Amino acid sequence: SAEQLDEIYAFAVQLGKDAGKMLMDAAALRISSAPGQGQQVYEDKDNAVDIVTKTDTDVEAFIHNSISKKYPDHKFIGEETYSAGSSKDYLITPDHPTWCVDPLDGTVNYTHLFPMFCVSIAFIVSGKPVIGVIYAPFLNQLFTSCKGKGAWLNETQSLPLVKAVPIPANAPKGCVFSCEWGKDRRDPDSEKGKEGNLGRKVESFVNMAVEIGGRGGKGGMVHGVRSLGSATLDLAYIAVGAFDIWWEGGCWEWDVAAGIALLEEAGGLVTTANPPSDPATAEITDVRLGSRLYLAIRPAGPSATETGRQG
Ligand code: IPD
Repeated sequence: SAEQLDEIYAFAVQLGKDAGKMLMDAAALRISSAPGQGQQVYEDKDNAVDIVTKTDTDVEAFIHNSISKKYPDHKFIGEETYSAGSSKDYLITPDHPTWCVDPLDGTVNYTHLFPMFCVSIAFIVSGKPVIGVIYAPFLNQLFTSCKGKGAWLNETQSLPLVKAVPIPANAPKGCVFSCEWGKDRRDPDSEKGKEGNLGRKVESFVNMAVEIGGRGGKGGMVHGVRSLGSATLDLAYIAVGAFDIWWEGGCWEWDVAAGIALLEEAGGLVTTANPPSDPATAEITDVRLGSRLYLAIRPAGPSATETGRQG
């Protein structure tokens, strides 16, 4: 019911705040440590770029326990629970209300103290993310949404903040787009650098940037190309309207579920897509979760260039 969803929303927001505080307390401890003492300890998961810290596991345990206590019948899917092997169930099925959590999205950023990291909590009903809570404590930015109640920054500012004319009407004029490289290095050729998995992604992305940006001329096609290191925050900044387009091939449900809830409430669009090695033939379908390939497009509004950035 609507009342139940309201209660779950309030619970999820508080959970996000508490979990974000745990992330920040652990980061602050490192910042204030004596030189050389504050090193973040991490372990490799599948490979040297897929890493986990004690903070990831502690924060996930905190979130999982809190949810199990309050909503024992709900299903829980978490990145670290999955990675640790205690549950290999990552499928979002329509039959159970499900929480889908990344305790620390942007783990590499976190270990390097680059501020683009966050906790990401989604609540999913009938296979669709209906609540999204994303908290980036180093940035002091809390993104929240619940179906039918809008998308919010720090609980007071309605998203999108940056308004622009709909894509594709002005696409890709003056846009900022972002993409993540993912962390899958299974390609046997990855040692070969450019020809390996990451190399191919970088190459296709750069080609796309050059292809679109190269058509610049007067009026400018691409204002900027970004890669934040947090798929969740990419989606949040698409919801803000700061980014126009984002894509990644290789993310999991917990990387995108809360961001999808937020972006849809802000009026943006998420689909699955082929990696745009050939943008002309990229397939776009309406499949949401359960795909590794995602493309997101910002909400529409009055033109940013015509009206300036408005709140
Ligand atoms: C990763 C980050 C990264 C993206 C990967 C994600 P993690 O999540 O969002 O930007 O490229 O696909 O798995 O490991 O930091 O939680």
